[in-house]
Amino acid sequence: MIPKSISITLRYFFYLLKAKNRHGIHSPFVYEFVCNILNDKTEYAEYMQVEKQRSLLLRNPNLVEIIDFGTGKGKAGYSTHLRKVKDIAAKSGIPVKYGRLLHRMVKYFKPKVLLEMGTSVGISSMYQASAAPNSTFLALEGCASTAEFAATNLRILGASAVEFTMGNFDIVLPGLLKQTGVIDYAFIDGNHTKEGTLNYFYRLEKHAANDSVYVFHDIHWSSEMEEAWEEIKKHESVRLTIDLFFMGIVFFRRELGRQHFIIRF
Ligand SMILES: C[S@@+](CC[C@H](N)C(=O)[O-])C[C@H]1O[C@@H](n2cnc3c(N)ncnc32)[C@H](O)[C@@H]1O
Repeated sequence: MIPKSISITLRYFFYLLKAKNRHGIHSPFVYEFVCNILNDKTEYAEYMQVEKQRSLLLRNPNLVEIIDFGTGKGKAGYSTHLRKVKDIAAKSGIPVKYGRLLHRMVKYFKPKVLLEMGTSVGISSMYQASAAPNSTFLALEGCASTAEFAATNLRILGASAVEFTMGNFDIVLPGLLKQTGVIDYAFIDGNHTKEGTLNYFYRLEKHAANDSVYVFHDIHWSSEMEEAWEEIKKHESVRLTIDLFFMGIVFFRRELGRQHFIIRF
């Protein structure tokens, strides 16, 4: 069997071979996406605020008890153990480049209702919520002690309309969706299994409006995740997808032709 670190390197190599830059794109919608979002080099003031909070997390040596859902490691999960906050932030937090991209996507598409599955200590939550301070931000997390950090960080940033739902996604998502109408934007970053990812997608797509944008993290992280991504791309409600390797972005706009893009980022 090929070790995971090598197989992801190989997958990344194939991605680079296939990925296009803006000159190879013939879809006006995707061309605009690349020019206005991917390639936007503006230093937004919110980046600094988020990254200040992030650097505090990265220096925090305190231990917290975390629930390990065991996803991706072949374990059933639900064990608890102690971990330093700085290690959680370093290992689970979204890299700056991608956090900033989430911020720009939210700023550009202006969703009214955002959902994040997997907040951890709140690094990606801060990037997204700070881009839409007047929108509703629904945060889902199974580990209460890390979610507390997320809640504090979001408060410091002034994100007021944040609603946390704590618990295993498989249990809490159906209940949350029963009380929710359209989800304009979703970021799915937890339980990176094929079954989990597809289960969440099938539930969420029923809440997608024409302009909704759903972002899946780590779509090439394992063969399972690649299979899930391929199935999502084929779903009848999905019109256009953008594969940035570490993220897959799904659009439902019926006016767009059915197309799938691999874009260099
Ligand atoms: C990669 S971390 C999220 C990182 C965060 N999005 C960021 O970039 O700052 C994944 C999170 O999902 C949570 N998680 C994983 N599987 C879960 C499940 N089945 N139910 C609830 N939470 C889960 C974990 O506790 C963890 O905090």
